Amino acid sequence: MVEEELVRKFAEAELALAPDALELLKTAEDPLGIAERALKAGKERNLFVIERTLIQELLERKEEEKIPMPVEVKRAPGFRPLAKEYPADLKFIESSDVSGKSKCKGHVEDFVAYFRDRVERTRKILEARGGGSGIVKTGVLGKFAEGRDVRVIGIIKSKRQTKKNDLLIELEDEEGIAKVWVGKGRNDSEKQCFAAANNLLLDEVVAIDGKMSGPFLVATDVLWPEVPARNARLIEKEVAVAFLSDLHVGSKLFLEQRFGAFVQWLNGGVGGEKQRELAGKVKYLIVAGDVADGIGIYPKQEKELVVRDIYEQYRMFGKLMEAIPDYVEVIVAPGNHDAVRRAEPQPRISKEIEEAIGGKMHLVGNPSMVEIEGLKVLVYHGTSLDSIIAGLKGLSYNYPEKAMVELVKRRNLSPLFGDNPIVPEHHDYMLIDEVPDIVHMGHIHKNGYDRYKGILIVNSGTWQDRTEFQMKQGHVPSPCLLPIYDMKRGELEVVNFTAEAKAPGMETASKAI
Ligand SMILES: [Fe+2]
Repeated sequence: MVEEELVRKFAEAELALAPDALELLKTAEDPLGIAERALKAGKERNLFVIERTLIQELLERKEEEKIPMPVEVKRAPGFRPLAKEYPADLKFIESSDVSGKSKCKGHVEDFVAYFRDRVERTRKILEARGGGSGIVKTGVLGKFAEGRDVRVIGIIKSKRQTKKNDLLIELEDEEGIAKVWVGKGRNDSEKQCFAAANNLLLDEVVAIDGKMSGPFLVATDVLWPEVPARNARLIEKEVAVAFLSDLHVGSKLFLEQRFGAFVQWLNGGVGGEKQRELAGKVKYLIVAGDVADGIGIYPKQEKELVVRDIYEQYRMFGKLMEAIPDYVEVIVAPGNHDAVRRAEPQPRISKEIEEAIGGKMHLVGNPSMVEIEGLKVLVYHGTSLDSIIAGLKGLSYNYPEKAMVELVKRRNLSPLFGDNPIVPEHHDYMLIDEVPDIVHMGHIHKNGYDRYKGILIVNSGTWQDRTEFQMKQGHVPSPCLLPIYDMKRGELEVVNFTAEAKAPGMETASKAI
């Protein structure tokens, strides 16, 4: 039917339609509409034949017309945001950001320098834990008597199971390698040690306590660098910080209407008094990467995009953010979809892209440590969470906060080298030197929260709908749930902007953290 109609239309207009152009036209969502456009273009360009390339061009243009535009945001009359009353207190900790200071040339020496730095700095953290009965280097182990208690610190070079299901570990430091034997356990303390050793990841730096036995060090305990236990730090000012990540602007699945609802909310335009009060406290907005969906990130991604121009994706992000109130400080780190190098540490988004965004945001590297109101916020996209979830038992995509805690315990954002690409800088930027007050990540597209030894752990989910890839993998994302941390009270509120919410932006849930 459609085919006959199309052929008739072109015949009436005395324009020939190439057979392959007709085939393509038939696959369009609206073939007659595209045919009208083709006839018009044919006349304007004085064509005799409508070729497939013209139909292709018209189909692409139609797709681009679908590009969503930001919703118009009206400031609510009478909205008096508390956050506006306070000046911003914001510092960027330079040493945590690689932007503009890369020393790596990709040589073997770079890898050596990278691992040496990782071992040395992690050793300092482990030494500060205390409690070791004499920390020694591996070079002296051979001189020790049988049964002597020692602690060695080094990098996990290998880990394998013996025929009897015990573990054999090679722990390497600057002087050599310790062969560590971990028995599967005859009593509770041995069982505990075995369970801990099972959780060791290759390339991570730990301390191992043990007793000398022939060529082996028989492990009695495994210690990670850890963070000290302390209470959450609170502030005096009535301000809050909101966490965003994984917008994926440019993707067909970016939920721009829901995002528009959030911007409206932030302007006091949605909800009752309680909602407006919370919105008015938001002084800081931290974005943990995947602002744009990017181009060529995975095979056939173009099919999933509405905007196929990288600059246009960021221009659109800038437009969406235009209506964020001026008194809100926006901090943006990149993720694996953004237009910076894929390998971590990632520098901040370039000046060129910044121009496309056009806004007045603070662009930082990934990872970065930012100090707001005296509280240290560690922002990391979370690309390494994939390898941690795959590598450790008991972790899953449903609870990203548990995987985040594992990284905090290890004081390294990417302990496993190689699974996600790392640039061997001479300084391990993934190492967590200073203990943060807040750790914010994304990447998993699933919200998750925890309080670990006083540190607020937040995974801020996503603003992208479930992708085909996630369906195949069985991942269920949690889009459009916005976590907001009241820095005075130490409370986390999660505002629901999903379309399913009875009133988007009005449903909040306090999370006990
Ligand atoms: Fe993402």
